[in-house]
Amino acid sequence: MLRVVVMVSGGGTNLQAIIDAVADKTVTNTQIVGVISNNYGVYALERAKNAGIDSAVVSPKDFENRKAFNDALLEKVNSYKPDLIVLAGFLVVIPEKMIDAYENKIINIHPSLIPSFCGTGYYGLKVHEAALERGVKVTGATVHYVDKGTDTGPIIMQKAVYVKEDDTPKTLQQRVMEEAEWKLLPAAINKIANS
Ligand code: GAR
Repeated sequence: MLRVVVMVSGGGTNLQAIIDAVADKTVTNTQIVGVISNNYGVYALERAKNAGIDSAVVSPKDFENRKAFNDALLEKVNSYKPDLIVLAGFLVVIPEKMIDAYENKIINIHPSLIPSFCGTGYYGLKVHEAALERGVKVTGATVHYVDKGTDTGPIIMQKAVYVKEDDTPKTLQQRVMEEAEWKLLPAAINKIANS
């Protein structure tokens, strides 16, 4: 059984997709052992609770400095003894110490076809705003391993999504989630769990 920790910052629709895929056995050999959020009160925590999954908040606001936060975050991750850490809309830069401790064991979902529209400053709706501004006709999502750069680690899976003439950043974001992200992230976990 692959022990998975999912890290979140917001609504947690990708977390929900993983929970559902484990429940309906689209993803096998996998147990979600914990959910960690850097924000209090986000809906992702409700999703964990509803699924009976242990959750925790490690917020930078509760620590004197970044180092103390980073240490607490790593300690919380370690407490779950995970085989895989999944960043599902986790909008915090992962501490180097954690990347060293979990080399090739951290994966991230990004809402574009990397290497387009990725790196520092590209997250959430901003990715889709930039893609529409540039006039791209095809976008999508990418699951990749996390290394010390921002969105630079080896790509595991990608899925393309066509842009429509009348798309707004919001409609595009929703379609990229539905058509790509919610399928891709469970598929990548299943691949790792069964390889
Ligand atoms: C997702 O679209 C994910 O791809 C994005 O944040 C959203 C989280 O949604 N992540 C990034 O932009 C990372 N650079 P969710 O909380 O509903 O899963």
